[in-house]
This record gives sequence, structure tokens and C-alpha cells, in this order.
Amino acid sequence: MSNLFRKKHIHELLNNTSGVQLKKTLGAFDLILLGVGAIVGTGIFILPGTVAASHSGPAIVFSFLIAALVCALAAMCYSEFSSSIPVTGSAYTYGYIVYGELVAWFVGWALVLEYGLAAASVATGWSAYLVSLLEGLNITIPAALSGPFNPGGGTYVNLPAIIIVLMISFLLTLGIQESAKINKIMVFVKVGVILLFIFVGVFYVKPENWQPFMPFGFEGVLAGSALVFFAYLGFDAVSSAAEEVKNPQRNLPIGIIGSLLVCSVLYISVSLVLTGIAPYTDLNVSNPVSYVIQLVGQDWIAGVISLGAVTGMMTVILVMIYGGSRLLFALSRDGLLPKIMYKVNPKHNTPVINTWIFGIIIAFCAGVIPLARLAELVNMGTLIAFMIVSLGVIFLRKNKDIPTGGYKVPLFPVLPIVSFLACLYLIVQLSVHTWIACGVWFIIGLVVYFVYGRKNSNLN
Ligand code: ALA
Repeated sequence: MSNLFRKKHIHELLNNTSGVQLKKTLGAFDLILLGVGAIVGTGIFILPGTVAASHSGPAIVFSFLIAALVCALAAMCYSEFSSSIPVTGSAYTYGYIVYGELVAWFVGWALVLEYGLAAASVATGWSAYLVSLLEGLNITIPAALSGPFNPGGGTYVNLPAIIIVLMISFLLTLGIQESAKINKIMVFVKVGVILLFIFVGVFYVKPENWQPFMPFGFEGVLAGSALVFFAYLGFDAVSSAAEEVKNPQRNLPIGIIGSLLVCSVLYISVSLVLTGIAPYTDLNVSNPVSYVIQLVGQDWIAGVISLGAVTGMMTVILVMIYGGSRLLFALSRDGLLPKIMYKVNPKHNTPVINTWIFGIIIAFCAGVIPLARLAELVNMGTLIAFMIVSLGVIFLRKNKDIPTGGYKVPLFPVLPIVSFLACLYLIVQLSVHTWIACGVWFIIGLVVYFVYGRKNSNLN
């Protein structure tokens, strides 16, 4: 039993026993850009429309606000961990230090689900915007080839989504480093088109569209917040850069909390303008942001927004596949997954086999599963990781080996506990299908651990 809870020691990790030392170059502003690059994607370009139409109405603004608050609590807990233990591996590594191996494996498994399906969902969102962009140029991709498997609705496979996932996986195997410079350009493009939407759209807002404000009641608002939670995911990726950050104790918390703040302001503004331009009942389309701009006759600007969205979403896919493949790499390095996932191609210096296995599975999911289902599963995986991190802060404070002096969650232990409960509450809002699918995923995870990981762990 005891080896289920064997732990890693913080000093070994901080002293970097592998001997590889990454260069510490990133400052707080770089981290905020990295965060915004990883966060802003499908969530903002699609969910405000579909969730307003079917769950929250114009009160989607509150859904975004509630989700932002839940994320802010989790972000504070992440900040305390990353500032106390500035090593890579994010929640998986934190779990290995404070809870022991089984929980660490559980978190790692949840994060693989988060990263993999987040990449798949963003790819389906990307495909919707590409189709609308091409339509503007009079090029039509047949509906049968641009939607999830749903023969009743006339769609069979989402080909553009499959192609983009495979292309990005290929790029990653070549060793394309997400250089800070390219990321910066992409972030400016994304934020630029969002600001363009807000500043153009605001002139077409008709306040009567905000009536009724809460057509599905407060319950609808809460259900909506469990869905739009997806739009904020990615801030945890900032903590993965820990080993490359200057003065991590100060800069990591600023990067994590700052990027979340920037995104919250953007999301809430977009939701207000979107539901103000058109009645919420009209927003159940796959490209609501450019759709409403077309409705008011600004076709040219709608085209620019679609182009910006298509470009911007690609970075999210890239960061998610990158993050997931490096996590699989770490799990394999620790002996919890077969060594093949840890194999590095000598020519490109990247884990090629691991990236292809991960990429092909993601491409399959992106090709056949609808966006809403994918997004719910991603939320489930992430909320579980957040709950474990939130509670982990309590164990972290008890661990006397952890260096002091970094960022601390205020109002301890109240905020970590509230964070845990808030995530639990959002999980309860998710559908039964999601619970079942997620349960199956974790059962597979436990089987893998007991059949393979436990025997082969490096801690043996
Ligand atoms: N937050 C990311 C997005 O909205 C996953 O695309």
C-alpha cells in the first residue's frame, strides 16, 4: 500500500538532478503574453454564442464572471505552488511532491485528457471559422466533410479539424520551438481582432436585445458558467514555463493571475457586445463573433475577424499538443508509461513517436465528436486537476522542506477550500454523459497504473 503514496523530494527537483539547466529569460510580461496565447481560442470565438442561445441568454456575462472567479481562486493556488516549487510538470509534479505517486498519476491522467481534448475542441472551432472564411471567398467545403459524425444531420467527419491537428503535430515533431517572438505576434493578432470586434460591434448594440436578460433563470447562468469555464483554460500552462522564468517567486504569480485578468476583461466585453447586437436566440451558430458582424452588413470586418480567429486558434492547438506530449514524456521518464513515449528522435531532438501517437488520437476525436461534448470533457479533466491543486496548498504549507518567501494564497485556508468547493460545484453542473465518459477514462487510467506504472516507476 505504502508505495502508492511514495513521494518525490522537493530538493532533488530543485537541485535539478538531471543536470539539464534551462536558461532563465522570461519576465512577467512575457508570461502574461504566454498565458493569453494559451488561453484565448475557441472559447471566446464560439462559446459566448452557443451558450447564450441554449443556457444563459444575455446573462452569459454572469456565466463568464462566475467562471473567472472560480479560475482566479484556482490560479492563486497554482501561483503558490509554482512560486514555491518552480519546476516543470505543473500539477503532476506538485501532486508527486505533496500527495504521492497515485494521486500524481491521477492528475497527470486528467491533464492528458485536458490537453488532448482541448486541442481537439479548438480544432473543431478552427474548422468552423475556416469554413465560414472560405465561404466568404465562394469556396464551399461540403457539410458532410466539415462536421462531427452525425449521419442524421448530414455530417460524417470534420476533415479540416483532422488536417490541422495532423499538420501541427507534424510541425511539433520537426522541433518547431514556440519561439517567444512568434507567440507574441500571434497574441497581438488575436487580441487585435477581439478589440476590433468590440469597437465596431458596440455601435450596433441595441439594448432591447438584452431583454429578457436571464431567460433561463440563475440555474441557466450556472450551467453556462460550467461550460464557458473552458474559455479560461490554459493559464495553468504558464506554470509549465517555471524553470525558464527570472525571479519565479515574483513573476509566476503575476503571469498566471495577470493573464487571467486580461482574458476576463476581453471575454466579458465580447459577451456584452455579442448579445447586444443580435437576440440571443439567433446566436446558436458555429462562428457567432463574425456572424453578428456580417448581420450588420460589415462583411469586410467579419472576414478580418474570421482570419484573425483562424490564425489565433492555431497557437492554442499548438500549445495544447505540445503540453500534452511533454506531459506524456514526463510520465514515461518517471517510469509510469512505457519508455517508447520517452524516446527522443536524434535528428529533430523531439519525442517524435509520442507526438504522433498523441496527435493521431486527438485528430480522431476532433474528426468525429461534436465541440460541446469535447468541451465538457475538457472542463471535467481540468476541474479535477484544479480541485487537487487547491487542496494541495494545505499540504504544501505543512511541508517544512519547501523554501519560504514566495507568493502565498491570501486568507489561508479559507480560499483554497472555497476554490475546491467551487470546482466541485461546477463539476456537478456537467452532464451525465460527461461523468460517464470521464469515469471510463479514469478506470482505464487506474488499470494502466496498476498493470504498468506501479511496477515500473523510477521510485521503485
Ligand atoms: N481556453 C482555450 C480556448 O478557449 C482552451 O480555446
